[in-house]
Amino acid sequence: MRVATAAELSGVVRDPQGAPVPGVMVSVATGQPSWTRTVFSGEGGAYRVRELPEATAFELRLRRIGWKDQSRAEVAPGRRDWVIEPETDATAVAAQLPANRWYHLLLQRIQDPQQREVFVRQCTYCHQQGSWATRRQRSPEEWQKIFLLMGRMGAFLPNELKAELPEHFNAAYASETAVPALTQGLGSPGFEPPPPAEVRRAVVDEWQLGHQASMQHDIVMHPDGRVYSVDMAQDQLYRLDVRDGKAVRESWKLPDAGLPLGGMFGGGRDAKTPSNAGSHVGPHSLQVAPDGTLWITLALGNRLARFDPASEQFTLVETHEGWYPHTLRFDPRGRIWYTLAASNHVGMYDPATGQHERIRLPARSFGQAVALRMLPFWIWLSKHVDLRGNAAGAGEGMTLPVPYGIDVGPDGVIWLTQLNEHRLGRVDPDTFEVEMIDTPFTGPRRLRFDSQGQLWIPGFSAGLIARFDPETRAFQSWELPIEPQGSDVPYALNVDRRTDTVWICGTNSDTLIRFEPASETFTVYPLPTRVTYTRELDFDAQGRVWTSNSNAPTWQIEGGFPRVLRLDPHGGDPAARIARKESSE
Ligand code: HEC
Repeated sequence: MRVATAAELSGVVRDPQGAPVPGVMVSVATGQPSWTRTVFSGEGGAYRVRELPEATAFELRLRRIGWKDQSRAEVAPGRRDWVIEPETDATAVAAQLPANRWYHLLLQRIQDPQQREVFVRQCTYCHQQGSWATRRQRSPEEWQKIFLLMGRMGAFLPNELKAELPEHFNAAYASETAVPALTQGLGSPGFEPPPPAEVRRAVVDEWQLGHQASMQHDIVMHPDGRVYSVDMAQDQLYRLDVRDGKAVRESWKLPDAGLPLGGMFGGGRDAKTPSNAGSHVGPHSLQVAPDGTLWITLALGNRLARFDPASEQFTLVETHEGWYPHTLRFDPRGRIWYTLAASNHVGMYDPATGQHERIRLPARSFGQAVALRMLPFWIWLSKHVDLRGNAAGAGEGMTLPVPYGIDVGPDGVIWLTQLNEHRLGRVDPDTFEVEMIDTPFTGPRRLRFDSQGQLWIPGFSAGLIARFDPETRAFQSWELPIEPQGSDVPYALNVDRRTDTVWICGTNSDTLIRFEPASETFTVYPLPTRVTYTRELDFDAQGRVWTSNSNAPTWQIEGGFPRVLRLDPHGGDPAARIARKESSE
């Protein structure tokens, strides 16, 4: 028992008639920046928040879809029962629903499946359409301005789609039609039932990290039990240490490499970085090297960075050729493999020898190949000529292939995805020979191997996960159990290789989703903060799942703050966690 974490808050949640209410998220928050712990009430309405610091008063929140949100200040640990009232205002209930429900109304209006797929892929990769601000009614001119702004940040839509979208947005999000559609059955017991008992055992912890202008991109769990995350908008590396019942947050500023705001893409007339961005190098992804140092891709700085936790010093490595270092992984020989998203390359860097290779991936068409070779020119040109509103380089109509997720199999072979081309790539670790394979689904994003060498892939714009066998080349896929079907956009998944359990980002539905391949069962864990946009997952030694809320812009997140979060599937019943761990070892 640790001294600092002895207190508990527990009790029963009931409705005004005294009947127990299961499935209520009970959240307690404290501190500045805050830490929030959330549990679910059980069948009899009982909840129990364990391991709280003594002598602390908390802000309490009770939440369940279809019930009035409730908060209380200054709640001390101890026994407390609460009464929660049904929410009868349909507009308020609709606002409680995750973004995917609203998004589905919009998708239904786009008739052409190909256009719909492009729209999903291009308009949900930075943020959910998840806040009142994104769902406002706007004139067609206002919408076109938004498409232009989003286009300058990287969202490319075909012109026909841009022409029809304003009408769809306004019609889908009009409250006269949206609210009744979203709240059908409100008041009946079948409306938004509580999650199953398995889910209600979970505990979710959230730590605010950075500030309102931050953008927490990826996280990684260090074998020493501390979690690192990178802030792409403010060029920060964070470390969160929660091992001893309290959280210690530290941060380091990445070197700017002498680059202007916006990095390699900045300093020009057409450069569009959000007004509050402080990024010169734009750290994107990070991994722990076999020697315990951290390696980070600097997407805007066209470099790799190494961070030594012992000396707290950074070293930079230039990429020379290729644009936008994206996701990285180590191979069994300690070499770094990384995707270069904007220029269709894979990079290989060997920290031991300094060997640095760029491998050009095949483009789909001649036009695309030309555009890719012209990319440095377009980037140069955009700094000297105002290209706004023009078909700048790979702008309108032309989409780049975008090498994306990457992972290394147990046999040392490198596999990656080419997001916009819906392909997998295989790179031979010795000859660097490349082979491309079409995926039978759209938008393959961040893939991972399991312990048996099977490759797991999320279909971002297809709302599914797939398993690919590199030997037989067979794909098998499973639709995510998020209703309505096809409304979620799984950005990443990761496999806990101790049990080969697959965890998936429910990026549009504020959920984390577990898939157990042996029984082919999904379990959906709702997360406590609205607009929880997740892009990467990692695990700690206890099998808990870590991720960050990476919605960009951050102001659209409920509360306006980025967070790093941890889901403990057995946290409400620690004995189950231990038993499960033992049985898996
Ligand atoms: C590259 C990242 C990115 C992509 C992709 C993206 N957005 Fe955005 N979006 C942003 C950012 C950043 C903001 C906030 C802008 C600001 O605060 O000035 C934003 C804001 C918005 C807003 C709110 C604007 C307002 O005035 O409040 C809407 C609506 C929106 N986006 C719609 C879209 C649509 C539609 C698409 C697909 C074409 C899209 N976004 C794709 C980054 C993106």
